[in-house]
Amino acid sequence: MAKNRLEVEICGIKFKNPIITASGTFGYGIEYSRFIDISKLGGISVKGLSLNEVSGNMMPRIIETPAGMLNAIGLQNIGVNRFIEEKLPILKKYDTRIIVNFWGKTIEEYVEVAKILDSVDIDMLEINISCPNIKEGGIAFGTDHKMTEKVVSSVKKNIKNKPLIVKLSPNVTDIKLFAKICEDSGADAISAINTLLGMSIDIETKKPHLSNITGGLSGPAIKPVAVRMVYETYKTVKIPIIGIGGIINYKDVIEFFIAGSTAVQIGTANFVDPEIPIKIINDLKTYLENKNIDKISSLTGSIKIN
Ligand SMILES: Cc1cc2nc3c(=O)[nH]c(=O)nc-3n(C[C@H](O)[C@H](O)[C@H](O)COP(=O)(O)O)c2cc1C
Repeated sequence: MAKNRLEVEICGIKFKNPIITASGTFGYGIEYSRFIDISKLGGISVKGLSLNEVSGNMMPRIIETPAGMLNAIGLQNIGVNRFIEEKLPILKKYDTRIIVNFWGKTIEEYVEVAKILDSVDIDMLEINISCPNIKEGGIAFGTDHKMTEKVVSSVKKNIKNKPLIVKLSPNVTDIKLFAKICEDSGADAISAINTLLGMSIDIETKKPHLSNITGGLSGPAIKPVAVRMVYETYKTVKIPIIGIGGIINYKDVIEFFIAGSTAVQIGTANFVDPEIPIKIINDLKTYLENKNIDKISSLTGSIKIN
């Protein structure tokens, strides 16, 4: 059988390719099975789940800007138990890794959701300590050293079976500090980055476009910030990094690998065209073959500074 140059390993778990769809941009995965063969994806990171169902912020919740998309969905989701009952059995029929992204309003809620997820048939947990769009929890955890340490170590202490990915907030001055705190608190991997806090105003009405006033900026506009943060994180920690932010084609993926990523997530691009992740997988294969690179993992952290 021909070797699979795209295979990567994160925390001992093999992914057939490093392309994972990003939380919040791919629903619970199954919705997209009408458009693409989701079994071709390396993995899916499911929409952020909380203990109870959440309806999110009021409309309008999304606005396109000339350089990126602003969203303030407010972590709308059906709650962890409904996900397990209604969505997971269907998602399990597909041949792809399942990462479940989750959050809580308090440390106790984070722990409770993590414990539930630790006992079901999924591959990894991804803790979101970095959503800018909710008043409680979210960004308050990911931008405060002590809260980051507390929430990551509390969750880690309470799970036994699954690796824990911590998703970092870019809305901090020094990402290295937060990456190190996560590693020291027991994170098994890091994903970086979540959205950047932004705002857009209608000049006729003088009102913010989003009901939440501010929102999270995503898409190609944030890619240079994300690449820089992955590079700085790679220099700081030993655990694997999943790069996220503005990826729309295979060249972006290669750039994230060179900066230090072991895998990547594709977010906003799914809204532009749900076939983008599949196209990227095919293009990456061709790129590696043409360059005679045996395995994509050999590119991780291969940056040359001098
Ligand atoms: C509409 C929308 C909803 C999102 N929801 C979540 C979420 O529930 N949990 C989370 O960790 N990140 C969430 N994100 C952040 C994305 O997973 C990703 O980190 C971010 O959009 C940057 O990647 P991109 O530029 O490829 O979109 C959301 C992003 C968007 C645009």
